[in-house]
Amino acid sequence: MCGIVGYTGHREAFPVIVKGLKRLEYRGYDSSGVALLNNGQLNVYKKKGKVSEMEESVIGKDLHSHIGIGHTRWATHGEPSDRNAHPHQSQSGELAMIHNGIIENYAQIKQELLAKGYTFKSDTDTEVLLNFIEDIKKNNNCGLEEALRIALKRIVGAYCILLISPEDPETIIAARKGSPLVIGIGKGEHFLASDASPIIEYTKEVVYVNDYEIAIIRPDELILKNLGNEKQTPFIQKLDMELAAIEKGGYEHFMLKEIHEQPDTIFDCLRGRLLVQTGQIMMGGIENNLDAFIHAQRIIIVACGTSWHAGLIAEYLIEELCRIPVEVEYASEFRYRNPVINKGDVIIAISQSGETADTLVALESAKEKGAFIFGVVNAVGSSIARLSHGGAYTHSGPEIGVASTKAFTGQLAVLSMMALKIGRAKGTLDEKRYLQLMQDLETIPEKVKEILNDTSNIERIAEKYKDASDFLFLGRGYNFPVALEGALKLKEISYIHAEGYPAAEMKHGPIALVDEKLPVVFVATKDSYYEKIVSNVQEIKARKGKVIAVATTGDEIIPGMADDVMFVPDADETIAPLLSVVPLQLLSYFVGKAKGFDVDKPRNLAKSVTVE
Ligand code: G6P
Repeated sequence: MCGIVGYTGHREAFPVIVKGLKRLEYRGYDSSGVALLNNGQLNVYKKKGKVSEMEESVIGKDLHSHIGIGHTRWATHGEPSDRNAHPHQSQSGELAMIHNGIIENYAQIKQELLAKGYTFKSDTDTEVLLNFIEDIKKNNNCGLEEALRIALKRIVGAYCILLISPEDPETIIAARKGSPLVIGIGKGEHFLASDASPIIEYTKEVVYVNDYEIAIIRPDELILKNLGNEKQTPFIQKLDMELAAIEKGGYEHFMLKEIHEQPDTIFDCLRGRLLVQTGQIMMGGIENNLDAFIHAQRIIIVACGTSWHAGLIAEYLIEELCRIPVEVEYASEFRYRNPVINKGDVIIAISQSGETADTLVALESAKEKGAFIFGVVNAVGSSIARLSHGGAYTHSGPEIGVASTKAFTGQLAVLSMMALKIGRAKGTLDEKRYLQLMQDLETIPEKVKEILNDTSNIERIAEKYKDASDFLFLGRGYNFPVALEGALKLKEISYIHAEGYPAAEMKHGPIALVDEKLPVVFVATKDSYYEKIVSNVQEIKARKGKVIAVATTGDEIIPGMADDVMFVPDADETIAPLLSVVPLQLLSYFVGKAKGFDVDKPRNLAKSVTVE
């Protein structure tokens, strides 16, 4: 993620930039920095931690400037630290740059630059791109704009970058592909930012820069060009939004925004890893530890909350595709019951925050006993990520809503790729199915988008059942953990008592609860359990329960029996939870909202539980 801000004009740049960065902190806040130009002097200040910590650290420094760029970071390449914070300076010190995105081919470019004698002060892909631009500028004896254009033609990945240099002391050069950039047009001044929230108090006229465009911005001038150096006409739009709404990207709540971000966050998670054309899955953390996984006698998954549900789905995946026995443990129970851990056991820790105390201490004690620890974590550089011997980040971006949504689907995407990669290496997954599942996984972001296209039916269902005092969620196979997650989401957001159960096990207890008032949510997509779940739906209908079904688009049998239906596109059952969970996230959101609760900060809950 990361947030970026730039300013060139007649005001003091620093206060404008810092205020803007604070508004963008939802995009990440592990370190921040600014670069300011004053009388041909480039001053760069950066600091690990929140923007306010950087602000405090520069008290008394030379902050006078009418042009500057600033960045608040959510680490991807390189741990959060002062030296990995942006802005970065080129080898000569003449260029300063901030970047939001990921340069996928940075390793190869870095090798080339190292061979030419370049040295690097940080671990970031950003510094590699910056020195690459400087190298081109030097070798071609051209201006910064031209050097940038040449560099970007070789770059694979996503970026929004802002560059300044004392050579051209009133100009910011920006470029974008994949990561957002808005330019605010003032009188004799321009503002740049990742979204409009840092801009709106100064001007309502904005230009949204398109992919593959370069912008040259001076106080009185805005030039847009494509990578072919052809001028583009800026399309000026009028902002018609309240500041508060913009901070949430126009969504009423962070939770809704995060649900809607899932096509992008799942795509980001797969990007550069799932290489369908070559049939490869590139995951360094697995690659480096492949032997540990292939020879694992047993895998123990340790997690809490929603992450634990992702672990349950991983159990089904890994046992089916890799034929390795898997146990899924609540971290708090695992820690305190003196578990048997043998040589050859692999522990997978799943955590969005990477800071959950129960998970952390469980891992510490397992590590002491000699277990190999693999982390599936969202927050880069977090405690669990650091403690793990290897790992894979979910790249879902900062999750602010307390109830986890996009982090869950990020975890499922990572765990699916892991199972595919290990199963293939171990020889338990035949090549045809491996390639088919890769292709299916690649289509998931588009299919999530389809579900999110029109959510009015789910909102209607939420309104209809919002006053129920209990809910039952049922599913079988891969959809059983989805039923658990649906029940947890509803409890968290709407404070309605909800239970998740394996649909068949329902006969051994919960069926006694069924009457005409009880809504029963069936996660009943087309899979190998389909016929069985049809019978379970009939059992509920025979007792006058109200059935709400998550069904596969085109299915006619389940919709024919259910009172209400939420459709999802078809997918292989191993990855279907990435789709079937989305309507349940929305259902809980709309019920909580209809009941007037604070869905982003539900009572008694916390985003990161750092106490045992
Ligand atoms: C809290 C959060 C949940 C989360 C759980 C585990 O309970 O409210 O959304 O699933 O912690 O957190 P983790 O960061 O370890 O995934």
